[in-house]
Amino acid sequence: MAQYVITIDGLAGSGKSTAARNLARRLGFVHLNSGALFRAVAHLALQSGANLEVDEEITALAEQLSFDFSLDADGQTVFTVNGDKLSEELTNPTVSEAASKIATLKKLRQVLSGIQRNFGKSKNIVAEGRDAGSVVFKHSAYKFYLTADLAERARRRQHELGQASTQAVMHDLAARDSRDTSRAIDPALPAPDAILIDTTALGPVEVVERVCELLKKKGFPVP
Ligand code: DC
Repeated sequence: MAQYVITIDGLAGSGKSTAARNLARRLGFVHLNSGALFRAVAHLALQSGANLEVDEEITALAEQLSFDFSLDADGQTVFTVNGDKLSEELTNPTVSEAASKIATLKKLRQVLSGIQRNFGKSKNIVAEGRDAGSVVFKHSAYKFYLTADLAERARRRQHELGQASTQAVMHDLAARDSRDTSRAIDPALPAPDAILIDTTALGPVEVVERVCELLKKKGFPVP
């Protein structure tokens, strides 16, 4: 049976992770968080002292890992790497920075895209990322791209991290935006057929409501 693939892309702090997680939960789908794949590889690369600029080296590390996204009894998606749950270690700023760097590597992107497509073959998914709609799941009929003002995205990120100043967070976000949108390979840009949603003035519940309304308009069976 054909599987449903809904894509939610956007820059850091746009609300895409929360939206993808909540939407997946509501639909009973798996939340395929592609950022977590890049972060897991970056984490391992930092631990092993690999050179973040050498595609072959980083791709070889990624190929050693076994990733899984599966639903637990509460309908929450659990991400594991070689059978271990990774969460807090993946969200620190050093890993964010390293993930953004290795995300420019061509071969690595191909390998991680293949892994995502494989999940999409066997499960109904909400795929979250930077290029889920434009590259990885080009043929999806349900694509969304979330945006928000830089200052609001920085405020959200600062709230999440609970430490650095807004100015410092804004500075890091702007640098990451620039690297993510200007890289030569699969830049973080909306697919031409993605629906744009500005979340600057929306809360998490409103974002999912908006996505569900738009899905219904497209004939998607939202429960
Ligand atoms: O969504 P995130 O912040 O967890 O992603 C971490 C980094 O990985 C981000 O800087 C961009 C990169 N990334 C990417 O290039 N392509 C994806 N599909 C997902 C993440």
